[in-house]
Amino acid sequence: MRYLTFALAKGRLAKQTMKLLEQIGITCEEMKDPKTRKLIFVNEELKVKFFLSKASDVPTYVEYGAADIGVVGKDTILEEGRPLYEVLDLGFGKCKMCVCGPESAREYLEHKELIRVASKYPNIAKEYFYNKKLQTVEIIKLNGSVELAPIVGLSEVIVDIVETGTTLKENGLGVLEEICPLSARMVVNQVSYKLEQERIQKLINDLKELTAKGE
Ligand code: PRP
Repeated sequence: MRYLTFALAKGRLAKQTMKLLEQIGITCEEMKDPKTRKLIFVNEELKVKFFLSKASDVPTYVEYGAADIGVVGKDTILEEGRPLYEVLDLGFGKCKMCVCGPESAREYLEHKELIRVASKYPNIAKEYFYNKKLQTVEIIKLNGSVELAPIVGLSEVIVDIVETGTTLKENGLGVLEEICPLSARMVVNQVSYKLEQERIQKLINDLKELTAKGE
């Protein structure tokens, strides 16, 4: 039997994924060691491998087949736009992609003005403003702490993830428009899905059953 390889977005998402997989009998003891510097973890009996990567690289590993399966946020899937099968909503990591800014920026959106939009997600921002809202804007790519942009005058609004809303609130900003809901998703390489259909489908069914019970 060949190995089934999982690419997980490192951090909270990976921890929650391992907890879920454990409940359906897919475990990986060597991954639990908090001091480990290993990058790849194996369960020889089950013939599964796991590796952790930066969230935005997960779709790349899965597209090229370096991983058969990936777990990553819907935000990253949308931003990367790679050909993958999205097979399951895991139901955790729930948040929203939103257009945010100071209340004073609301009128620029209403009048479809040519404003500047800062985001870690330029493709999502572009798709939303150009194709959905039909508003011409200038998109500025940032790599983090995006809430700074409207405060220091880099942009009028931002496109960013809102979970609790605390970051916005503490910086005098708010949600102006909601773009879409987000959560952790399981993605599968298109060739792997065909080659390993039985194993992968069983995994999906087991997880579906488990997540349905949790609701
Ligand atoms: C995310 C996001 C917001 C914040 C939202 O940032 O970009 O800044 O979390 O969470 P809240 O609504 O609960 O306050 P992250 O922590 O990933 O850091 P970054 O912005 O530096 O990438």
